[in-house]
Amino acid sequence: FKTLDDIAPASRTVLVRADLNVPVQDGQVTDATRLVRLVPTLKELASKGAKVVVLSHFGRPKNGPDEKNSLRQVVPALSDALGAPVAFAGDCIGKPAQDAIRALEKGQVLVLENLRFHAGEEKNDPAFAADLAKLGDIYVNDAFSAAHRAHASTEALARLLPAAAGRLMQAELVALSKALGQPQRPVAAVVGGAKISTKLDLLLNLVGKVDILALGGGMANTFLYAQGVDVGASLAEKDMADQARAILAKAEAGGCQILLPKDGAVAKQFKAHAPSRIAAPGDIAADEMILDAGPATVAYYGEKLATAKTVVWNGPMGAFEIEPFDAATNAVAKIVADLTKAGTVLSVAGGGDTVAALEHAGVADAFSYISTAGGAFLEWLEGKELPGVKALEE
Ligand code: 3PG
Repeated sequence: FKTLDDIAPASRTVLVRADLNVPVQDGQVTDATRLVRLVPTLKELASKGAKVVVLSHFGRPKNGPDEKNSLRQVVPALSDALGAPVAFAGDCIGKPAQDAIRALEKGQVLVLENLRFHAGEEKNDPAFAADLAKLGDIYVNDAFSAAHRAHASTEALARLLPAAAGRLMQAELVALSKALGQPQRPVAAVVGGAKISTKLDLLLNLVGKVDILALGGGMANTFLYAQGVDVGASLAEKDMADQARAILAKAEAGGCQILLPKDGAVAKQFKAHAPSRIAAPGDIAADEMILDAGPATVAYYGEKLATAKTVVWNGPMGAFEIEPFDAATNAVAKIVADLTKAGTVLSVAGGGDTVAALEHAGVADAFSYISTAGGAFLEWLEGKELPGVKALEE
């Protein structure tokens, strides 16, 4: 795919598909990470003399425009991140967009209203894509985190204008390729989360690609249960036992070592500071739940991860939102962070709760690369082709 190195943006109107879908509470952006990570692309285009027009979705509006899903509320935070004023247009196509672009000077940045206020966006409607294409000369996609959506602004539009990847998209793709595309081996994946039903494709893909798969969170209980271990009242998807056994068999046949917890923190209630004890699998009472991995598991995972050259991380090791059941997530994250700092491991993390868990552990900055993507990172771990990336490549 082409990058900003391959386009000549001076005096051109560049449509940048960004992901401004950031968390907002009472009109305030509560996590500006995606905005901060977008800034290099905006600055580079602006400094090269482009008129920079930012396109994005925000939330999942179902019935056309509404204030709650307006991108207007994200503009001040983007302006802060950029360190320059950012203009706003009340619609992403038609006269409001055209007038705002006409008023824009070279080197300035404009955000257009939520793409999803038009049904054509999610339908990947060619007519809507053509309306967007009319607004600019060049298309830059910097929204890796929306690349799993085949929508008009991520897919069809890439085929209507000269197209290139922005710096964030480029960084995401380079990091992912180092992590699983052509990784330094051994590769270890740390996968946690509540359920295997939502991560079945991901697990099946990973056991065919990685050398070590360290499992944690509620999903590990399902694997233990599938091996005949009594997990008491723990969250476990008993109807997924066959699938769990199939993953174990595929791993064994392909030479992937699956690591399962050797102990856990068990409690009778799912709440912060619930009385708990460390127990081995099989030593769990009928009314006890495994809420976190235990110290023996942390030591065992740490020893195995120390043999890896590449570590991919998705999902927490336990109920990290409630203390003290964040202990294993914190400890394993710290091990990976220390290996990264020592230069023995390249570590890449992303998807859903993952970044929150690593930030909670205080080690996110030490990872080699943290993806801005949730769902797109997961689909990529599933081995799926991302339509937004494919359209750029073609
Ligand atoms: C995300 O937050 O993961 C992306 O912005 C995609 O949002 P969506 O799941 O609403 O398409």
